[in-house]
Amino acid sequence: MAVLSVRGLHKGFGSGAQRLEVLKGIDLTLEKGELVALMGPSGCGKSTLLNIIGGLLDADSGSIKLNQFNYGVNHPSKLVDLRRNGIGWIFQDYHLIENLSALDNVALSLELSGMSSMQAEKEARISLEKVGLGDRISFKPDELSGGQRQRVSIARAISGSRPVLLADEPTGNLDIQSGEDILVLFKELCSNSGISILMVTHDPILASKADRMLLLRDGTVAASDIKEAWGDEV
Ligand SMILES: Nc1ncnc2c1ncn2[C@@H]1O[C@H](COP(=O)(O)OP(=O)(O)OP(=O)(O)O)[C@@H](O)[C@H]1O
Ligand SMILES: [Mg+2]
Repeated sequence: MAVLSVRGLHKGFGSGAQRLEVLKGIDLTLEKGELVALMGPSGCGKSTLLNIIGGLLDADSGSIKLNQFNYGVNHPSKLVDLRRNGIGWIFQDYHLIENLSALDNVALSLELSGMSSMQAEKEARISLEKVGLGDRISFKPDELSGGQRQRVSIARAISGSRPVLLADEPTGNLDIQSGEDILVLFKELCSNSGISILMVTHDPILASKADRMLLLRDGTVAASDIKEAWGDEV
């Protein structure tokens, strides 16, 4: 069952001679419980595509359907609802609040979405346990390793039971082992919780561990195998 489907998405920046067409007709589908790696050269539009899917940026044309949300060209009328209940974000640099504990980082985002403090704290605890940080909930970001910080941000993204996670180079700041551990966690979340994850990565080894790889090049997306994507480099 498709959770997310993107059809004919176009996006360019600037005008006249400065106009740059970045996305030239993107079609992609994310099934329930699927982990999909999105690769492609720097500047090809991966983050732009994620921002449009996340409802942060409008496309020039095309459409996106995520469960009950239909959007793309126009911000969804229920954009706030999409952000709260549709999509969780994971960034390369975690985006955690430094002086809040792991628990409060996760709970705060739930409270902002309207949950009572008590309920938010309970849910945050459950999410942190799911990512293997049950014994670190009172630690602040600077008391955690990079891999653990990224787990806090994953706990935040999955709290509130969002069906889709968008991860923009989630392992970009991590050592090889911590990056692989995050991949294992992603796969667990996909198979145990039925979450679907679209993950941008420059690492062909990590990408090869996803259920599927897509290559964004020249403004369109194609199914890819590692050789096709990276030539003789791997
Ligand atoms: N707001 C903007 N205004 C103008 N140009 C933009 C804007 N956002 C992105 N671009 C351009 O669109 C292209 C795609 O950028 P994007 O950040 O999506 O690439 P990317 O594939 O994520 O690259 P990287 O792998 O380096 O993160 C780039 O040429 C960039 O300069
Ligand atoms: Mg990017």
